[in-house]
Amino acid sequence: MSHIKNARLAPAGRLRIEWARADMPVLTHIQERFRRQKPLRGIRLAACLHITTETANLLVALKAGGAQVYACASNPLSTQDDVAASLVTHYHIPTFAIKGENNQVYYRHIDAVLNTKPHITMDDGADLVSTIMKKRRDLIAGIIGGTEETTTGVIRLKSMEKQKVLAYPIIAVNDAMTKHFFDNRYGTGQSTIDGILRATNRLLAGHTFVIGGYGWCGRGVAARAKGMGAQVIVFEVDPLKALEAVMDGYLVMPIAKAARLGDVFVTVTGDINVIRYEHFCVMRNGAIVANSGHFNVELELDVLKKKARRVRRVREYVEEYTLPNGRKVNVLGEGRLVNLAAAEGHPASVMDMSFANQALAAEYMVQNAKKLEKKVYPVPEKIDRRIAGLKLQSLGIAIDKLTAEQEAYLHSWESGT
Ligand code: ADE
Repeated sequence: MSHIKNARLAPAGRLRIEWARADMPVLTHIQERFRRQKPLRGIRLAACLHITTETANLLVALKAGGAQVYACASNPLSTQDDVAASLVTHYHIPTFAIKGENNQVYYRHIDAVLNTKPHITMDDGADLVSTIMKKRRDLIAGIIGGTEETTTGVIRLKSMEKQKVLAYPIIAVNDAMTKHFFDNRYGTGQSTIDGILRATNRLLAGHTFVIGGYGWCGRGVAARAKGMGAQVIVFEVDPLKALEAVMDGYLVMPIAKAARLGDVFVTVTGDINVIRYEHFCVMRNGAIVANSGHFNVELELDVLKKKARRVRRVREYVEEYTLPNGRKVNVLGEGRLVNLAAAEGHPASVMDMSFANQALAAEYMVQNAKKLEKKVYPVPEKIDRRIAGLKLQSLGIAIDKLTAEQEAYLHSWESGT
């Protein structure tokens, strides 16, 4: 019961999973406790996540906790086929994921994990919940709750909650501070640049790097691009975020203007058609355009495809579009998240905290599901702080404690000037 590309890739996958584990001390600590205490005993857990080395370590930890785990991909292009092979062969975790699968196979894989009648869903982009809501409502009665990994998924789930159609409680792992402050910023920052460089081998120093969106991901990508010597331009719709980008030292302007200036473009907005055909038409010849937002909707590729005079693959993960005006635009990874399509996603050290949140959120759900309503809940602050403490400990970093006097001062109002 699995659908993977090639079981013979398993030994390579196992080595890479172990390599990642060496940089995931917090998750390993949780896994060891899970192995002793089995807090997920009897739970069937369906996970729709990017099938990477880091995810493999999460799934292994959940299984150590007693869960029966079933996995499928949360994006058709992010699967690491050797990891999927090792999950099936060495860890006996049924996995349905093949890099490059088409949309039909993608949803068939989602159906396959849902057919196991999960008690908990673990999503990255809310595709399990959306599928359950749309066509597998028969499963709702058996589900105690779910977790969600990413900003885009949390937005979708909150909109379900607002419309009073959310069918079971969800913990928004993305909203934990030990998730988005680190994963979205330092993870997306580094892995997005990594994806662009692996796909193109272009120099960033001295070039103009345009970023759509200045949320946590945009902040991270901007900092890393600047650090590599690029001139960074940000385009935004939110005046506060735009102002923050200005104060952080970046040029801020509308995309219509930035489109004429950029050498490399990346979208991280979570919204649709952020860079449109009209923008492609005014870009410099040879411009590079990528998306690092969750869904492949941020670039208006359908129109670009229709209008282009010629489309050809010029490198792995690079499609060159020749426009009617003769200029060429290079689109990376078919507009899917470039950090996972062309590179390996966020490094293990940062996924360590994200997935520690996932593991502890699943445990929390088992312990508290009966008390929770059909709402989107934050990760409890206690869990967030425990993860930060464990991460610091694993890095060998000690911090100060408040003295009794300082503690009392913080709770008093009497003392003043
Ligand atoms: N999302 C971003 N990077 C990831 C990774 N390495 N593994 C799983 N999900 C991710």
